[in-house]
Amino acid sequence: MPDLIRIPAMLDPHVHLRGMEWSHKGTFASETAAALAGGYWAVLDMPNTPPPTVDPPALERKLAVLGAEAVCDWGVYFGASQDGNTAHYPAVAERVCGLKMYNNATTGSLLIADQGAREMHFRAWPRGRLIAVHAEGETVADILALVRRYRTPTHFCHISTADEIALLAAAKSDGLPVTVGVTPHHLFLTDEDVRTLGALGRMKPELKTRADQDALWDGIARGVVDVVESDHAPHTLDEKRAPEPPSGVPGLETTLPLLLTAAREGRLPPERVIELVALHPRKIFGLRAPDDTYTLVDLADRYEIRRENLHTLCGWSPFEGWMVQGRVREVWIRGRRVFDGERVLAAPGSGRNLFGAGESFV
Ligand code: DOR
Ligand code: ZN
Repeated sequence: MPDLIRIPAMLDPHVHLRGMEWSHKGTFASETAAALAGGYWAVLDMPNTPPPTVDPPALERKLAVLGAEAVCDWGVYFGASQDGNTAHYPAVAERVCGLKMYNNATTGSLLIADQGAREMHFRAWPRGRLIAVHAEGETVADILALVRRYRTPTHFCHISTADEIALLAAAKSDGLPVTVGVTPHHLFLTDEDVRTLGALGRMKPELKTRADQDALWDGIARGVVDVVESDHAPHTLDEKRAPEPPSGVPGLETTLPLLLTAAREGRLPPERVIELVALHPRKIFGLRAPDDTYTLVDLADRYEIRRENLHTLCGWSPFEGWMVQGRVREVWIRGRRVFDGERVLAAPGSGRNLFGAGESFV
């Protein structure tokens, strides 16, 4: 393989860009800049940041602010709310990349713990359009029962245990329309790392055992895992140092180099990396790569992950001090160079909404 490789249109389907009330953690400008620095063409933003994206005014506000600031292409999820916001679904479904449903506790207030309420959301969301779920442990089986009933294409975010992988492998062999995402932190860290990382190693789902981690890698090898998604969720260092630190870690700028380093070590074929960060996520969301949109990566460049080189506003990484090989040299979108290896060259607002009216590449 040559040192300089070209990866077509990378898509991270799971990021928390923050912005608005949480602009101290990250702004749409800073976190989409982090996406470009990480090699990504586009990101899909989660709805749990205040004000949660669960009604048309909150959606319009996010679309407007994100649209004005984004330097990479983007889409947003609508959130399923506890008090039942299904009446909005017909109006919003075409304008978002999917519905996000939180079925276990995490950052924000969108937990839906009741199976009847979950079913109400599955019933109301237009059939054929995607639902992304946060489901951990036994909740995976609860959601699979709904997928079996409604046949809605369902993406299982950040799967982290051997048991969950087994359930989803079986669901796939049964022909259910499910896809599986895993995160770099679950692939490269375990519960043992929490001892040294402290709050910087805290996220939902939590870090798991070595055996669980092995099952995720095995899931990649067997094709059970479709996507590596960063679950980029910045919180400030001050917040992380507080007595009750919030869950979540940044990941946009470290996901690709970590995977390429693993490929170099023979843990997965390099072509598989490209499937996991570009081809599969685009396919799941029905997105065609725009012309002349790609990332140039120098596979010979070995470097240490250091906080001073990061673009994310939170300014830290659970992988600080790690040596990685494979540096993003350039990112091009629609024939324009938008990142030169150090600086973002795109103007605020130049990123496109991939699910805006008339903008979809489907
Ligand atoms: O650790 C997490 N942080 N998990 C999530 O599901 C949400 C995220 C956040 O928004 O901080
Ligand atoms: Zn998340």
